[in-house]
Amino acid sequence: MTSASSALGGEYQLAVDLTVSRVGFGAMQLAGPGVFGPPRDRERSIQVLRRAVELGINHIDTCDYYGPWVVNELIAEALHPYGDDLVLVTKIGAYRDHQGGWLPLGHPDALRAQVHDNLRRLRLETLDLVYLRYLGDQPGITLADQLGALIELREQGLLRNIGLSNVSTEQFEEAQRHTRIAAVQNLYNVVNRTSAELLGKTAAAGAAFVPFFPLGSGFADSRAREDGVLRAVAERRGATQTQVSLAWLLRRSPNILLIPGTSSVAHLQENTAAGSLELTADDVAELDALVADGETLEAAH
Ligand SMILES: NC(=O)c1ccc[n+]([C@@H]2O[C@H](COP(=O)([O-])OP(=O)(O)OC[C@H]3O[C@@H](n4cnc5c(N)ncnc54)[C@H](OP(=O)(O)O)[C@@H]3O)[C@@H](O)[C@H]2O)c1
Repeated sequence: MTSASSALGGEYQLAVDLTVSRVGFGAMQLAGPGVFGPPRDRERSIQVLRRAVELGINHIDTCDYYGPWVVNELIAEALHPYGDDLVLVTKIGAYRDHQGGWLPLGHPDALRAQVHDNLRRLRLETLDLVYLRYLGDQPGITLADQLGALIELREQGLLRNIGLSNVSTEQFEEAQRHTRIAAVQNLYNVVNRTSAELLGKTAAAGAAFVPFFPLGSGFADSRAREDGVLRAVAERRGATQTQVSLAWLLRRSPNILLIPGTSSVAHLQENTAAGSLELTADDVAELDALVADGETLEAAH
């Protein structure tokens, strides 16, 4: 393990030949407001991406429907030609309407087209990991058919690993009967443990668990700050509440990979430093007790 990767929470093996730093980067915040349209400051978005790679991050989460297309184009502009160890991970199964709404696009033919679109826009010949993003049932489309399309694309060498996003435990278990699922990306953070059962299932199955909204999208209106647990731990450790939230996730399970999102170099650096923040057993116990597994802090109030 390199010193850069040990500072990034260590490394995780996503597949036999695919290793990533446990602290990665989620690129969604690089698009314009509401993840729609161009960024307010294009140069700053490019700087964030380049700084992430300089810091040793080699796992970047993206997709064509951020912008749409804006974020994938920014990644290619900022980072291509890519370093050998950079893992760009994308998601398919959705599109944006003209108002910025998020809609399902899960027909197997549409999934095939989205893989080709991501390859072209990211200037790649193969995608290391592609998540099927579930946005609710679509008439006449089964998970088996969707996975069949992804398996076929994998056989063609267009993608190497299959993941699932926003799925139930039952869907994860069903998918595993069809193929190896390398990673699951669901909402999970210190104040929202609704995917706790699925986290345990992924760990047992040897799949990565990649929480989206690892910071609760900034904990804008969460009660965690009011409760003061995060603040108290942060004060004891000389860290920020954001760093404590991320460090807790790293401690929560060895298969958790972080993809905090930011449009700011300063926040990127702060979040990355969480990879080497040590929490004591007491810190972790206090944070664990904030919310029960399966629940959210908001629902508990
Ligand atoms: N699979 C899915 O359905 C799905 C859904 C949502 C997100 N995602 C992925 O998950 C990644 C993470 O989610 P996210 O970006 O929405 O939410 P997040 O990581 O939970 O939080 C991002 C928000 O927190 C703020 N922030 C970040 N670092 C901060 C810091 N150190 N101090 C204060 N504020 C900070 C950001 O604002 P600034 O820009 O000002 O830093 C932004 O508003 C995304 O980038 C995307 O790749 C996936």
